[in-house]
Amino acid sequence: MNGTRAERVSWKRVYVLLLFTTFLLSSVALAEGEKILVAHRGASAYAPEHTLAAYELAIAQGADYVEQDLQVTKDGVLVCLHDPILDRTTNVEEVFPDRFRDVVLDGVERRIWLVNDFTLAEIKQLDAGSWFGSESAGATIPTFKEAIELIRGRSGLFPELKDPKLYRDLGTSFEELFLETLREYKLDQPGQDQKTPVIVQSFDEDILRRLKNELGCQLPLVFLVNQEMDSSWLSSEGLRRVKEFAGGIGPSKHLLHRDPEIVKRAHDIGLTVTPYTFNSTHVLAQFDSASAEMSYFLYDLGVDALFTDNPDLFPRAPLP
Ligand code: G3P
Ligand code: CA
Repeated sequence: MNGTRAERVSWKRVYVLLLFTTFLLSSVALAEGEKILVAHRGASAYAPEHTLAAYELAIAQGADYVEQDLQVTKDGVLVCLHDPILDRTTNVEEVFPDRFRDVVLDGVERRIWLVNDFTLAEIKQLDAGSWFGSESAGATIPTFKEAIELIRGRSGLFPELKDPKLYRDLGTSFEELFLETLREYKLDQPGQDQKTPVIVQSFDEDILRRLKNELGCQLPLVFLVNQEMDSSWLSSEGLRRVKEFAGGIGPSKHLLHRDPEIVKRAHDIGLTVTPYTFNSTHVLAQFDSASAEMSYFLYDLGVDALFTDNPDLFPRAPLP
């Protein structure tokens, strides 16, 4: 459906309402409606992921929600970064050559620069854009607050609590910090800001259960499932367990491709389905383009929403 912006906002509300009501009702039929576009790490095909430029472009390309992966600095500030380490997307090795840890990961020795070993002031000295291209040099890692201030009123937020076990081991109260930040912007309750719906996601069952049961978080929660996790999460019984602590699932698109019935099983018990990640560089072999692939998942398989690096390629109607 090629709706106006106002119509799309209205359907976004329906999606959030559906996610929220799954917590309250044992069985909710999902309405057919406009599909939801989540910009994965911003418009990350065109700008360095998790920079304000990538978020701004995502909004310009019509994102209904902009994703933030969250990490925690040494001085307890939430920052938007996918990895728990700074090495892949910044020049940390040049700026702080001695601040590494030597670790063994999967039996291999590695030198890493952990986000949580650096203060925000130090992290702000890093260039988070040059790895992507010289035209992006000088981009910095945004705080979650900076992301909220840029996005609110213009799109929804879809934050992911990354690496909760790491932060638990480091003694960081990640989830409290997260809710505190949302509270500061009056975004911690569903419907507080109609123009800025918030959906929270994690691969970690425990943190979602804690948010919901111990910290009283009523925001819609999405449980992410990847190919390395126990596949029984996506059985009927597994999905009923998900329903205890989340309103939706976010499976890898490969899992849905192998077993498209997951969508029906999830919908039958009132869970929404938001697969990841769609982009123009990794299109499944049977499709000619990222848009064709997204169209299949949205309109043939019937998922409710999806994460894409290419918001401009999101099909608002089925492709022929
Ligand atoms: O959160 C959905 C998707 O982003 C999960 O994968 O690794 O990109 O965070 P990742
Ligand atoms: Ca993510």
